[in-house]
Amino acid sequence: MNKDNPIGIFDSGIGGLTVAKAIRSLLPHESLLYFGDTKHLPYGEKSVHAIQEFSKNIALFLKQKNCKMIVIACNTASSVAYETIKNECPNIEIVNVIDPIVKRITTSNDTKTIGVIGTKRTINSDVYPQKIKSINQNISVKSLATPLLASMIEEGFFNDKISQAIVHNYLKDPALEGIDKLILACTHYPLIHEVIRDFYPQEIDIIDSASQVALHIKDVLTDKQLLANQSQKHRFYVTDYALSFEKSAKFFFGEDIHLEEVSSIH
Ligand code: DGL
Repeated sequence: MNKDNPIGIFDSGIGGLTVAKAIRSLLPHESLLYFGDTKHLPYGEKSVHAIQEFSKNIALFLKQKNCKMIVIACNTASSVAYETIKNECPNIEIVNVIDPIVKRITTSNDTKTIGVIGTKRTINSDVYPQKIKSINQNISVKSLATPLLASMIEEGFFNDKISQAIVHNYLKDPALEGIDKLILACTHYPLIHEVIRDFYPQEIDIIDSASQVALHIKDVLTDKQLLANQSQKHRFYVTDYALSFEKSAKFFFGEDIHLEEVSSIH
């Protein structure tokens, strides 16, 4: 495998850009190939089988593009399609966004009651409580599905009155009472980090996958001697072009991006 081959990163839409951005700032020599499956957004409402099929096809596309690693920058796909992708691409490093977070939570001594918010599919999969409890039985996990948030963000509502009203309505749910940390178990949610933080009167540790996953990727690439020497241009693909995506992507990735539409992978 050539070290200078790109890292493939995919999500249903714009959310995985939070992960791409963290990778770019930690590993500036890496070339990124980003894939947003906008045609099938939101993944959180789809069946397990459908998400596995979408993910498999994207992984094959990224493999054809010679990616040296595939980052599943989506909690929903990470929770139900990680094994599918690993089986499909046995010779490529596959990284999900859940394990690095579980590791961080279970290795810190101060976590007692942790909240998890994510899409319906992620929360119904029970993946966070299962993984956390398999390592540390003493941590209590309180989960809540917050299905409107990803679509709300995708539509451009980040830090305004609308997002505030919806976020507050979810976070006041008794299901999340008494938490001392909150996992943002959807890669879209760092984009509304401030609104979430503002809900809590007390200091609360809000954990998102982006920087944690980037650190994990650095470790894997170092270990496999796959760190790139020189970056090529980053590339961005979507399955359904939308101007709003291009604008938001520019805003969140912090540089001009050109979206290429691919329609033939599904
Ligand atoms: N960004 C995604 C996640 O982390 C998916 C949101 C969606 O498409 O429903 O789960």
